Amino acid sequence: GARAGGARNFHSASARGCKRLRLWRRCTLLFVLFWAACWLVGSTFLFLLHRGVFSERCTDEQSRRILARLCLDYSKGVLTGDLCEDLCVAQKLVYKQCLYYDRGKKVIQADWKGQPVILKSKKEIFSSYQHLRFLDEMETQDVPEAELLLMAALEVKNVLGLELSNNTMGPLWTRRRGLHWKAQVASMWSLLQQEEYIYFSLLQDFSKHVLRIIGSCGHFYAVEYLTAGHAWHKTIFPLEDAVGPSFTSSKSKAKAITDIALSFLDMVNHFDNDFSHRLHLCDIKPENFAIRNDLTVVAIDVDMAFFEPKMRDILEQNCTGDDDCNFFDCFSKCDLRIKKCGAQRANNNLQVICDKIFRHWFPPNLKGPTISFPLQLQLQKAVHECAKHGPEDLTEHQKTSLNSLSELHHLLQASQRELQKADG
Ligand SMILES: Nc1ncnc2c1ncn2[C@@H]1O[C@H](COP(=O)(O)OP(=O)(O)OP(=O)(O)O)[C@@H](O)[C@H]1O
Ligand SMILES: *[C@@H]1O[C@H](CO)[C@@H](O)[C@H](O)[C@H]1NC(C)=O
Ligand SMILES: *[C@@H]1O[C@H](CO)[C@@H](O)[C@H](O)[C@H]1NC(C)=O
Repeated sequence: GARAGGARNFHSASARGCKRLRLWRRCTLLFVLFWAACWLVGSTFLFLLHRGVFSERCTDEQSRRILARLCLDYSKGVLTGDLCEDLCVAQKLVYKQCLYYDRGKKVIQADWKGQPVILKSKKEIFSSYQHLRFLDEMETQDVPEAELLLMAALEVKNVLGLELSNNTMGPLWTRRRGLHWKAQVASMWSLLQQEEYIYFSLLQDFSKHVLRIIGSCGHFYAVEYLTAGHAWHKTIFPLEDAVGPSFTSSKSKAKAITDIALSFLDMVNHFDNDFSHRLHLCDIKPENFAIRNDLTVVAIDVDMAFFEPKMRDILEQNCTGDDDCNFFDCFSKCDLRIKKCGAQRANNNLQVICDKIFRHWFPPNLKGPTISFPLQLQLQKAVHECAKHGPEDLTEHQKTSLNSLSELHHLLQASQRELQKADG
């Protein structure tokens, strides 16, 4: 009896417990939903705030005021540039909207002769840039060209960590003698203080994977408008925006992604080999790349791009373990005997692109009707292998990376052929 009673007691207790549990569960569910909603609203708000959408500095009014001020300075002969006439007089360069504002950095979308362009400056106001005092003292045009070139070269050396020969400085220093030479020098000096401008203008002629600079007016420079990537987007790049609504079928999407992936590989190869020093990308994420209409991949954010000599300086730190040798997507190993990080980067651009970009496209269980199954499987495996940590020995590692690159290239071309064949 005692046992049965005990059991019954236990039973009713557990029934009550169950009811409470169910109630609790429902409450928890409500609570979780409520919490998720709060989180969503809050983070969207913060995101928009961060993007500067709510910031008073990114309103149309404020942006127009900034451009009006630029044009006033232009009319006074304080600054100049090849786009000033179109912006301030001919009205061929027209403000559209503010895209981004953060601590002075301004990104504006505009329309130039019917095509969209981006206007950028690290600081809003011309006078916030460092001023060349000697310009006030000089009256003649005869500031020695050589001296100006030297100043530009020093600035470039600071930013890139490279010494360039005089003739490759050309894109940065195209001064025309004549009227408004002070405005010309002052404008160029404000542009030279923007690292991104230095990268883009020096690499222009050598690389299709670098943002095109269209022109400048004062401290603002214009670059081509592209379709930027987003981590949350299913295909990373919104293909409809880049190449039009014909890219909606899953096959044409697969084709486009294959082309973009091949362009990524071309970029990796190019940044590794075609400059006098290797170019390391230390912040690889969808947002920092964009595509042109022809599906070329372009690096649009070079804040974390470093040529080999500067990369070595950055990596070579004191350390007590490997963790001290990480610099965003670039890392080396800690040599415990001398407590110093290796100067040579232990991973490479390809590995990180495989890990952070290609994995999105070739996930481990993609089963589409687009590419044949064996090929899909091979691609997944190749991407996985490519993203893996390489061998400790750095020359060995370089070899495996080269193999990875050529295997991926081969597989992507095979996919391209398959998709092409299915067309006919
Ligand atoms: N060429 C471009 N075409 C289209 N959109 C662009 C282009 N350049 C920038 N954008 C948009 O403007 C935003 C901000 O530009 P940018 O990448 O220069 O700033 P950021 O580097 O993200 O800023 P921060 O240096 O503060 O991190 C980008 O996230 C992108 O959405
Ligand atoms: C660059 O030009 C300056 C001035 O003309 C000259 O002094 C310097 O030697 C040149 N440097 C190189 C690397 O050619
Ligand atoms: C690194 O270590 C050396 C020797 O132990 C020391 O002299 C130097 O100041 C350290 N550098 C930094 C940046 O901590």
